[in-house]
Amino acid sequence: MCGIIGYTGKSDAKDIMLDALELLEYRGYDSAGIALLSKEGTQICKRAGRVKDLRDLCAQKNLVGSCGIGHTRWATHGGVCDENAHPHRFGKVTLIHNGIIENYRELVERYHLQGKLSSETDSEVVAAVLEHFYTGDPYSAIRRTVLKLKGTFALAILFDDQPEKIYAVRNVSPIVAAVTTDGAMLSSDVAAIVPFTADYFVMPEFHVVCLSKDGAQMFDLAGDHVEIEWLKVDWDVSRSSKGGYPFFMEKEIMEQPKVVGDTVLSRIRNGKPDFSKEGVPDHILADCQRICVIACGTAMHAGLVGKSLIQAMIGIHVDVVMASEFMYNDPVVDSDTLVIAISQSGETIDTLEALKFARKCGSPSISVVNVKGASIARASEYVIYTCAGPEIAVASTKAYTTQLAVLYLLTARMAMARGLWSEEETLGYMSELSRVPEVMEKVLSQKDEIHRLAGTIINARDVFMIGRGLDYSILLEGSLKLKEVSYIHSEAYASGELKHGTIALITEDTPVIAVVTQEKLKSKELSNIREVQSRGARVLLLIKEDEKLEDDKRFANVFRLPVMEDAFMVMPASITLQLIAYFVSLDKGLDVDKPRNLAKVVTVE
Ligand code: F6R
Repeated sequence: MCGIIGYTGKSDAKDIMLDALELLEYRGYDSAGIALLSKEGTQICKRAGRVKDLRDLCAQKNLVGSCGIGHTRWATHGGVCDENAHPHRFGKVTLIHNGIIENYRELVERYHLQGKLSSETDSEVVAAVLEHFYTGDPYSAIRRTVLKLKGTFALAILFDDQPEKIYAVRNVSPIVAAVTTDGAMLSSDVAAIVPFTADYFVMPEFHVVCLSKDGAQMFDLAGDHVEIEWLKVDWDVSRSSKGGYPFFMEKEIMEQPKVVGDTVLSRIRNGKPDFSKEGVPDHILADCQRICVIACGTAMHAGLVGKSLIQAMIGIHVDVVMASEFMYNDPVVDSDTLVIAISQSGETIDTLEALKFARKCGSPSISVVNVKGASIARASEYVIYTCAGPEIAVASTKAYTTQLAVLYLLTARMAMARGLWSEEETLGYMSELSRVPEVMEKVLSQKDEIHRLAGTIINARDVFMIGRGLDYSILLEGSLKLKEVSYIHSEAYASGELKHGTIALITEDTPVIAVVTQEKLKSKELSNIREVQSRGARVLLLIKEDEKLEDDKRFANVFRLPVMEDAFMVMPASITLQLIAYFVSLDKGLDVDKPRNLAKVVTVE
């Protein structure tokens, strides 16, 4: 949460930072601000609101400087107001912060800061503590301050008397940094750096980086110089632009055939799933007695699909645990439990903490991550990267389907490693998986019809989504998507559960979306649909295109999905539900890419 940017070099820092903040805005968009350090001193310009509001404010001021830091905020401590926006300044110190300082109240007391702070934030307290320790040596002040902090932080710091220099330090919350042709940059993610260079490094925790126009230097907390490990971005800058679409969400939905294809095809060898490039050894897939998937939100919904696949095809027990709840339910994981952590950003703190815990318990681990070099990828034993490329819309779409793609592959590799499938079965499954991009294209080609269907729920206050088994997992994600981007209350319900209470909420004003894609569940699902129709509900049915319906007139609308084997129907059904959510949000005139109160990367617990 919160986007941070720093630039020092030969160019105008203000413009670079404002452009970068726009790219980082998906990390938080309550308020934004920049600080510029120049011979004239430190100038700060900040306000509640979006980056475009900050741009307007900056235009009214004469801001100059080629060294600066910038921030886009997702409020944690203190409301959304100009004073709480970053950067924060105390004495000679100006900083931006991403994370949460848990002991900030103790620090206020310990350093007698009552009445001296101008915001309600924990971040300003850090600036004050740094100022307390600062006697001209930034490294010493940072070291001494960091040792006093409890919590998570990514800090970028300017000192009034350290011209052209930006200092940074972090714990848990991410910072990447890079050297550009005319200076150096840091950011909370590579999206802001990629327009300038493809080479970057992930700052290790509890190290201090100093950026100057001559490059980057890194030290550990003992003051010893540390070599930087460089990485390369493997997507080009055009992938973080809207490419002619009105919103990133639409662009990212449309990219799915390509990115799912990339994720799958790069891991097929001789027609079989292959993780040798990732170094995932077969024995961890063959030896585990159970699997525990940890993830949040959409990534957790991908995990639920994985659970259905693995339990059905491999016959071992799979738990899917919300990472935010993992630690509070006395988790039972051990060396026989393969832990799979799923995360687009690779920075979700709950998932990261749960993964670290599981590893301490001796569990082998694989993470499924989209962002290269992210903390979760580094914290797990093995990592399988999804090839979604940058996902900028806050609502996850292509990350979800690429996570599913990896789970399909893992299931097949696991079946091979355990000797469960014949060669023919493996090849058949993989060839069906390879059809997913073409099937997705078919759904996308019916975008206009899906747009029309979205119009049938746009005025609803509540929408129910019902299905069983794998269909229910699909709907959990479909319902989350609708809620988050359209603000329509929606619930995914296992259709067999309706009678146990929830059916009381179904009236003629409640649109119901039903997904029926699993042959073995079809008759039960169709009778559950009758039950809601008897209560007046208008039902939009998603069903395979070759399915014969005796009385399709009883449905308000029927959308026909291209046919795949049942286990793969998640793909066409999910993409349809993503488009429904998107069009409802679009037609309501909402800010589709930045739904209220959300942020893309959740780095606070
Ligand atoms: C919803 C959404 C979130 C994320 C969740 C986990 O559209 O994007 O529910 O899936 O915050 O994020 P990652 O995958 O980055 O760990």
